[in-house]
Amino acid sequence: MCGIVGYNGKKKAVDILLDGLSKLEYRGYDSAGIAIKDKNIEIFKAKGKLINLQDKIKDKNLKGTIGIGHTRWATHGEPSENNAHPHVSNNGNVTLVHNGIIENYQELIQKLEKHNYKFYSDTDTEVLTNIIDYYYNKYKIGPIDAINRTMVRVRGSYAIAVMFKDYPDEIWVARKDSPMIIGQNDDGTYVASDVPAILKYTKNVYYIDNLEAACLKKDKVIFYDLNGDVIKKEMQEIKWDVSAAEKEGYEHFMIKEIYEQPEVIKKTINSYIQDNTIDISRSNLTQEEIKDIKEIYIIACGSAYHVGVCAQYILEDLTKIPVRVEIASEFRYRKPLLNKKGLAIIISQSGETADSLAALREAKNAGIKTLGIINVVGSSIAREADHVLYTLAGPEIAVATTKAFSTQLIITYILAIEMAHVKRKINKKKYLELIKEIQTIPDKIKNILEDDTNNIQKLSSKFSYVHDAFYIGRNLDYAISLEGSLKLKEVSYIHSEAYAAGELKHGTISLIEPNTLVIGVITQDEIYEKTISNLVEVKSRGAYIITVNPNKIDVNKVADFTINIPETNKYFYPSLTVIPLQLLSYYITVSKGLDVDKPRNLAKSVTVE
Ligand code: F6R
Repeated sequence: MCGIVGYNGKKKAVDILLDGLSKLEYRGYDSAGIAIKDKNIEIFKAKGKLINLQDKIKDKNLKGTIGIGHTRWATHGEPSENNAHPHVSNNGNVTLVHNGIIENYQELIQKLEKHNYKFYSDTDTEVLTNIIDYYYNKYKIGPIDAINRTMVRVRGSYAIAVMFKDYPDEIWVARKDSPMIIGQNDDGTYVASDVPAILKYTKNVYYIDNLEAACLKKDKVIFYDLNGDVIKKEMQEIKWDVSAAEKEGYEHFMIKEIYEQPEVIKKTINSYIQDNTIDISRSNLTQEEIKDIKEIYIIACGSAYHVGVCAQYILEDLTKIPVRVEIASEFRYRKPLLNKKGLAIIISQSGETADSLAALREAKNAGIKTLGIINVVGSSIAREADHVLYTLAGPEIAVATTKAFSTQLIITYILAIEMAHVKRKINKKKYLELIKEIQTIPDKIKNILEDDTNNIQKLSSKFSYVHDAFYIGRNLDYAISLEGSLKLKEVSYIHSEAYAAGELKHGTISLIEPNTLVIGVITQDEIYEKTISNLVEVKSRGAYIITVNPNKIDVNKVADFTINIPETNKYFYPSLTVIPLQLLSYYITVSKGLDVDKPRNLAKSVTVE
């Protein structure tokens, strides 16, 4: 998705804007641009990678200390220099960058055309720029009123950064349903759509709410509500390390983030478990509220949905509360019947995924309690959910999630144990036993990384040629197969599918040919023999079988290659089995020579429907 960065201060804006945009590259983009005010506002844009923009401006000696920049991920209009941001109003008075989508832009074009506005691009953003300009000129009311009238008039989602020719020392920003943070230090003020863009410069930020605007001056930020009244905001400190958003010697962010997992899982565990006791009181979800919960709805997208599938098995088994897991984009449009005593759990790394946010609002409108499992502090879902449990994964830069996924899993285990204990479905002994075992997970992952990486790397180079892969397992092993399969296809572009092992024979087995790659995940004591039988069925049709299993499970008669993982409690195996699956996807992709951190067509945070 698109990225925004802006700076107003003492330093040369061009360096800060380009550096900030480079930190936003991971979000996915197809063109980039900046506007810098020196004597006049100068705009530079280029299609393709940021390097093209850098080449364009390298001899320009841009000295301006105020400017805005953008990486564009095309929605309205093809990726091109013409459609790239910043856009400028007809009379050159308003220069703007925008994330999001303006839904009623056609209607706004008609309105503006009646007033002789002309359009040079195919974007909804150019329309937005001119609407601001239209209100600004019509009412002679100054930036805040022009922006507020625009916010009332447009439908859709947006985060905007605007420069007005008549207000050369200010950047104006506003947002609705699209992320934006504002930072400040002694050198100036900053705006960005995402923390990593400004983390290097400041950890002191303000969160701007929906339908609010702000004026960034060189030494202060003034916030306004939709009435144009000034509002006060507290500055907050971001806890993320700057180094977490840098590669630090690793070839790619994905592998760095895979290796960070023991550490961030430990941090997440330690923030909710102390002295063998779970404490989730920071979420404000009380024991009384937990006792009252009659149903659980887990709602999420993509990998976060897969965490939900794992959590469904664990929560239901431990708490004996019925659990349903739903894809957010389906949930939001299907008018589900929800128990008033239900709890909706929204899982999201970014906290900004449009469908998950909409699902949260649906659940709130239905009058049920909501709990977010979120990584980005201050994100929309974190702010709107009744309760929040934060994952402490730190900034996740690789498009394909790994460490956020793993910390989300951990939170669901902690929640399941706590709820089961509060509801008296497990006794103190079981509670302590599970807590003890959870704390062993970071070291067990470390062991997998130490023991298995080399073999997986060697194996992976053999599979860069494959066209199809199937991941199979039962129960929690099926849940993690969904994630393994997504991980492979999204970064390596190899077609892959996950199947409940028992379901394969109902159609999909016809796709198995000699050397088709089948990955069997086999950890669950009660049913492993059944998965092995399913693997035998595909092996006898020529499939090449990789298994991921603890040593105690004998896979000799099926596996062509075995990845052993340490033993753990049956509920926690997903945290271990996912590690080799992540490594497999990573190394297969690297051996194909693909850009593993930025797979084609994908965006890190999906803020459009
Ligand atoms: C896949 C991946 C995506 C996200 C999904 C939800 O590797 O990262 O499938 O899990 O887009 O994103 P969040 O968690 O930000 O809501």
